[in-house]
Amino acid sequence: MKNTSLPILFCACLMAAFSCGKDEPQSRPDVVIPTKPENETPENTGDYSLGELAAMQGIKLGAAFTYWEYRLNAQVPQILTREFDAVTFGNEMKHDAIVKANGTMDFSTADEMVRWTKDCGVELFGHVLGWHSQQQTDYLNTLKDDAAVDEAFKNYVYGMMEHFDVYAWDVVNETFADGGNGAFRTVYTTQPANHVYVWGSHYPSTKDWVDKAFQYAADACKKYGKTPVLYINDYNLETDPGKRNGLCDYAKNNPNVTGVATQMHIDMAIPDLKNKISETLKALVATGKMVRIAELDIKTQDINAQADMFRYIFEQYIAIVPAAQRGGITFWGINDKDSWVGEENHPLLWMDSVYNKKPAYDEIYNFLLELNGLNS
Ligand code: XIL
Repeated sequence: MKNTSLPILFCACLMAAFSCGKDEPQSRPDVVIPTKPENETPENTGDYSLGELAAMQGIKLGAAFTYWEYRLNAQVPQILTREFDAVTFGNEMKHDAIVKANGTMDFSTADEMVRWTKDCGVELFGHVLGWHSQQQTDYLNTLKDDAAVDEAFKNYVYGMMEHFDVYAWDVVNETFADGGNGAFRTVYTTQPANHVYVWGSHYPSTKDWVDKAFQYAADACKKYGKTPVLYINDYNLETDPGKRNGLCDYAKNNPNVTGVATQMHIDMAIPDLKNKISETLKALVATGKMVRIAELDIKTQDINAQADMFRYIFEQYIAIVPAAQRGGITFWGINDKDSWVGEENHPLLWMDSVYNKKPAYDEIYNFLLELNGLNS
């Protein structure tokens, strides 16, 4: 914790004590979000946040969080407010979170979280429009033919894009086959019990469905006067060069795709990992689209080696991705204890119940501080 934190917390507590909250309803009245006194700018305190340092390099820094993570941990809104510029909802904008069994769309939980993003002063990334996992299969399985599936998909894309104001969307997620040498998926091996729905099987090919997804997204942008970046996103691009080529080739050939993203769920045990990360960033840049690291986490048993890898990723992103193509870096979570890959894999920047910063936080922080010429 930096030297200005105690006065900030003290002021925040005073503000909370003197405001009954009646005139300023808050989404989470029990959470005090620290606000810096106006004279305490980073320029005169030296107290930059990670997000501020990343923004100096044109990197919009984000974190994913879930509804209950925010409700149960007062540190989450505080960290989002202080450290980040952008957020992704971990689950709450997925098909099975929005669409009910009768096919209607219910935005209430996501909307509550949208209000939190405003409280925290962060922008929202839209995750996700087209995916095979976490779908409302109770509803989808009632659809009688392919035309009905296509209509349901189109209505979903339009409904989501009309409702949410986001800076970018994952239009499709995980549509390439593992080890498929660049082929689109036709079967779904991941999370088989997790509301899997094979959209592509209702179209002449999975590619036709992906084409449709980007067409609907581009058309909805025009209709609603919105200009989000439209991403194609996948995992294991570092370790599966065939898949990476498939994604990059597809993106190059579809003008409706304006961004390419690697999830970058990686593991320190992967051989030659640094080289694989650099090769992936170079391939993504060569598409000419916006380039984003969408779901960064690193499994490890050595949090010092992990810190070095996180620094390397920032260093390479800045070295390889030209400023005009920087779509940002988002961590898939905040605290190891709430990570989808398990606390025992130590994947993120904060740890334990009091949210101690890990070596990775300091390593990235000091790297950016130095790069920005602010370390003296
Ligand atoms: C994960 C969430 O973090 C988990 O809470 C959920 O149980 C499963 O999905 N790729 C994606 C994300 O695109 O949506 C996934 O999120 C992680 C892998």
